[in-house]
Amino acid sequence: MRTVYFDYNATTPLDAAVRTAMLPFLDAEFGNPSSIHHVGRRARAFLDEARDRVARVFACKPSEMIFTSGGTESNNLAVFGVARHFRDKGRHIITSMVEHHALLHPCEYLSEKEGFEVTFLPVDRHGRVSPDDLRKALRPDTVLVSVMAANNEIGTLQPVAELGALCHERGVLFHTDAAQWFGKEPFVDIHQFNADLVSVCAHKFHGPKGAGALFIRSPLLPDPILFGGGHENELRAGTENLPAIAGMTEAIERFVRAPVFNREQLAPLATKLRDAAGSIAGVTIRSPREECLANTVSFSAKGCDSIMLLAGLDLEGICASSGSACSAGSLEPSHVLKAIGCEADESNALVRFSLGRESTAEEVQTVCAALPAVINRARGCEL
Ligand SMILES: Cc1ncc(COP(=O)(O)O)c(C=O)c1O
Repeated sequence: MRTVYFDYNATTPLDAAVRTAMLPFLDAEFGNPSSIHHVGRRARAFLDEARDRVARVFACKPSEMIFTSGGTESNNLAVFGVARHFRDKGRHIITSMVEHHALLHPCEYLSEKEGFEVTFLPVDRHGRVSPDDLRKALRPDTVLVSVMAANNEIGTLQPVAELGALCHERGVLFHTDAAQWFGKEPFVDIHQFNADLVSVCAHKFHGPKGAGALFIRSPLLPDPILFGGGHENELRAGTENLPAIAGMTEAIERFVRAPVFNREQLAPLATKLRDAAGSIAGVTIRSPREECLANTVSFSAKGCDSIMLLAGLDLEGICASSGSACSAGSLEPSHVLKAIGCEADESNALVRFSLGRESTAEEVQTVCAALPAVINRARGCEL
């Protein structure tokens, strides 16, 4: 049986050139950038060069790029770092109801354990935050607003530049989790988000897992969340993961400016999937038609649950997801579907197809052909 991998929002295969760029650091170039001797100094020179290369793509200062272990850590550093740094100024944070758990859980922790108040902005039926709602929610004690650039479960693009501008008018810091955005949408420079902090996650665009970055606009210096050394401008202690940094740098150079997820290639494939799924009785497409990632088609199916649907697809060789990978395997209803006003039973029945560089029309055809029977079986009726 052939594998059809339609789960690129969960992760992407490592690109061959990215792998090649990593190899020296898994081999001869094993030095610790903090060592004084020449082996360490070579590693330091590479680390400095990597930061320069990323900064050139992003059009920011090298000191504004902090290398992290991925999207989760970047989000944690942004939220905890800013909130704790400014806790004497105010203890109010604003985010949205559709963020990834790597953003929601830090906010919930601050609210439960550290005396912060968090406003979770509602979204419309497309999953979009309204700038008006943000304007109304801003308060004199708001220290941070965080709204994601692109939603991982249904693909909605948020009006982040507008939200960021609003925050800046009011002197409030703005963070965006752009883990699903990089490599998929046209990138000019890091300033296009109007954000003070931006999270990047390498394995979403053919880089290695365990590699990420946080852009932090100078002169902002959030509190660190990892202690034990002066690495990363005193913001992130720990010996730098050079293979991961080498891979991420290569992936950023290759796949961000000209997005590796090519809209012209993917949009027709996604439309075909969308039309085929949408024509099945009891299926509702949940990804918006406009202002949505071109690679993402999500739907809910009445009378099923995600686990049955995903297991049924898997039996046909088709890899899909129920949204955020971390909740696969559990029957947790999707908080994103709930937020867009989906009935409780359907929030349990999300299927996300996310296409990518290697996806073909033939694969889409295979999925379209298999889908009606898979849904019927998940409903407990054999075809
Ligand atoms: C929007 C978003 N933010 C953050 C993350 C977390 O990334 P990682 O698990 O690589 O740390 C993901 C990964 O699914 C994501 O989709």
